[in-house]
Amino acid sequence: MNNAEALLAAARKAADQAHCPYSNFHVGAAVRCTDGTVVSGCNVENASYGLTICAERVALFNCVAQGLQPLELAVSCVDAQNNAPLASRMPCGACRQVMQELMPNSAIIHIDGVDSRRLKELLPDAFSLDSAKNAP
Ligand code: THU
Repeated sequence: MNNAEALLAAARKAADQAHCPYSNFHVGAAVRCTDGTVVSGCNVENASYGLTICAERVALFNCVAQGLQPLELAVSCVDAQNNAPLASRMPCGACRQVMQELMPNSAIIHIDGVDSRRLKELLPDAFSLDSAKNAP
């Protein structure tokens, strides 16, 4: 199993922990950090719907809390139907902006059932207060 497949497998496993009683749409994410550590996350919903947080942000914020530098991310929307548009598997815009803050522009994002993209392809011309922060 190569790096991407291993990270996707970790993302699918993380989706098992999703707290998603409202959407019943389980999402898992796994992040490989510069030291090789893999940190995972799942979506966590709330009865006050707007408080819901996506799997990608849970994983990335967990990296920050552990003092780790995220390098590569995999996401799996395990409940997306085979015949559904690919858009139902893509990371949302808010998560892309958080990736932009915490990952290098060259970071690779593996999207289960879609393909792998560089972060800069997912969020071209991202908002930043400090354009020198991210490496090219
Ligand atoms: N969700 C994620 O976890 N990641 C995304 O990038 C898109 C959406 C979650 C949020 C919510 O719990 C469910 O999927 C349905 O929108």
